[in-house]
Amino acid sequence: MASHHPPITSRIVALLVLTLSFFSVTLAAKVRPNAADPTVIKVNNTYYSAESDGGAIWVRESATLEGLGAPGVRRERVWSDTANRGDVWAPEIVTDLGRTYIHFSAGRNAAHRMYVISADNPLGRYSAETKLALPDDQWAIDGLFFVFEGQGWFVWSGWESEAKNQEQTLYICRMDGPSEPVGPRFVISQPREPWEQGDSPRINEGPQAIVDPDGQLHIVYSANGSWDNKYCLADLRLRRGGDPTDVWDWYKSNGCLFGSHQDRMMRGWDATLFIDGPGHHTFVLQDGEVHKSPGGSEHIPFMFHGVDKGTEYNWGNRAWYTGSFVWWGETTYSRANVPGEGTNMGYSFKFFE
Ligand SMILES: *[C@@H]1O[C@H](CO)[C@@H](O)[C@H](O)[C@H]1NC(C)=O
Ligand SMILES: *[C@@H]1O[C@H](CO)[C@@H](O)[C@H](O)[C@H]1NC(C)=O
Repeated sequence: MASHHPPITSRIVALLVLTLSFFSVTLAAKVRPNAADPTVIKVNNTYYSAESDGGAIWVRESATLEGLGAPGVRRERVWSDTANRGDVWAPEIVTDLGRTYIHFSAGRNAAHRMYVISADNPLGRYSAETKLALPDDQWAIDGLFFVFEGQGWFVWSGWESEAKNQEQTLYICRMDGPSEPVGPRFVISQPREPWEQGDSPRINEGPQAIVDPDGQLHIVYSANGSWDNKYCLADLRLRRGGDPTDVWDWYKSNGCLFGSHQDRMMRGWDATLFIDGPGHHTFVLQDGEVHKSPGGSEHIPFMFHGVDKGTEYNWGNRAWYTGSFVWWGETTYSRANVPGEGTNMGYSFKFFE
């Protein structure tokens, strides 16, 4: 099983997995040109995606992941910004107890806040939007609801305050269902490692939750600016038995795990060959449930956005791509000068274009 080989053979295994994967999965299919921030779930045997476009939110339905971008795919407008709330960004589609929820950010400049709409099925009639009463009521984008070990959580990218907006930090809070935040917010990640920052503003965003084959929770997020090809994916792994609200129970990968610049990658991880600045992914989970990721050594499809290398990196040139990942075992993340153990070993990810 690829995930249990020691690091010294990891490149050979990666090559083998990559070679085998040519026969088992479609690699790096460009699904939709001129599209960003994919979010996809699988309900029964059907894929549903959500996107914002023209002050509205649209849901697509397809029997295959790649088919979500096919001409003639079923695409329905499920919500419009009739209240003129402003820019509508990065919807995230999930289900909870059989109901479908889409969380999204809307607003202008510092007024961005998270909203939620819901329906009894992914293409059903959605409710009017409700503003999420997130603790401290600050700028918030890219919010994701998930349930881990029976407790609801919301994770998002936000500012400490309007005055302290030099960092987009990842926050978490408990939820009493997809629409009801409870209690305070807690920082789980700040963009302070050399490989994830540059000038101001420093950015951690697009958090996506998933549980590994050992039952440990991960938040894989995007670092650097979404307008720049240094954009990449990195991992936060909650230590075994850890408390999601304790920042020191989260261990961060020592570099990007999926990115196009080798100098920003974690040691032993290779930069992409074909796609620039990959980021803001979705794990395409069954019903959006973090406990339902396939394990084993198989290639697991996922979706992300990026730009073909050789093409100028800008918001308009981004596209949705399918790729795959494998769970990569016995991976140590290390840190210094903070409370708690300096190292932590567990599953990580190898991502493939
Ligand atoms: C999925 O299957 C269940 C059980 O057959 C059904 O009740 C539900 O409506 C289906 N969901 C969708 C979105 O088709
Ligand atoms: C992204 O990285 C580049 C290269 O280090 C840096 O110049 C830029 O400021 C960074 N952007 C952000 C938003 O961190």
